[in-house]
Amino acid sequence: MTDSPIRTLTRRRVLPVGENGSLWETRPSCGIFAFRGTRLRLVVEDPAEILFPTDCGLSLISALNGDNAPGLEGVRALDIGAGSGLYSVALLAAGAELVTALDINPASAGQTTANVVANGLDGTRLTCVTSPLEEYTPDERFDLVITNPPHLPYDPSYATGNGLETALVARRGGRAVYDSVVERMDTLLAPGGTLLMAHSSLADIPRTVTELTARGYESETLEIFEMDIPLLAYAEHKETMLTLLKERRAAGQAEFDGSRFTVHALMFRRPAGATGR
Ligand SMILES: C[S@@+](CC[C@H](N)C(=O)[O-])C[C@H]1O[C@@H](n2cnc3c(N)ncnc32)[C@H](O)[C@@H]1O
Repeated sequence: MTDSPIRTLTRRRVLPVGENGSLWETRPSCGIFAFRGTRLRLVVEDPAEILFPTDCGLSLISALNGDNAPGLEGVRALDIGAGSGLYSVALLAAGAELVTALDINPASAGQTTANVVANGLDGTRLTCVTSPLEEYTPDERFDLVITNPPHLPYDPSYATGNGLETALVARRGGRAVYDSVVERMDTLLAPGGTLLMAHSSLADIPRTVTELTARGYESETLEIFEMDIPLLAYAEHKETMLTLLKERRAAGQAEFDGSRFTVHALMFRRPAGATGR
């Protein structure tokens, strides 16, 4: 080969094996948040299998930093749909005695445990359970239940069956897990206990409030957050998703304006004298 007067510098970059997405400047795999005076770090090893916490989930964390939020010291808590362990980590850091992290996704247990331990928290205070909420029957009821259910409507055209879908999408127009939370709450929450919920306006907030109120729960809105509908994971199917959401809005079952919706940080109290399961 003769020497060419023009030198081209062709950079060769070897991307790490098993690191799909490493060319992103940032990617949703690690985040830092403050909770009641402590800085906590959350890692998601595989964002296709476990949802990296969205603003919807973080809004409840933020609301629980407010003045009218309940005490967490010494509580025995259930984190329904724990995912990466965002709420389990926060509750343990705030002094919860025990946290049960429940998720239908088997990948959640390992990631939640890893995040608890990586934050220097006592892993013996955490129990991870892999089960659908609908089949979970604990031996004892909890002082506190916290949850951020999936809230986008399901459609077969964008079904993938992966963990990200389980985290974001639910049957019955996005209400399936909310309905289960309402249905199962007397079995899970002790009388006098507190249910904390990040509730999307895409999934009929009035219905949840009406149904829990009818069961004797007192409700309070801690804070309301307005944000973009998180359609990034569904960019290809955005129009289908929006059509479904518009149908639900026309039926009075969803509220949003353009691409903006709200998340309500809700607190429900079960009366101390309540009986029955
Ligand atoms: C929106 S994500 C919330 C994750 C985490 N709490 C957060 O805020 O980042 C919903 C979680 O609920 C879980 N999930 C969905 N359906 C469920 C069910 N029927 N029973 C238990 N967990 C479920 C999903 O796997 C997912 O981890």
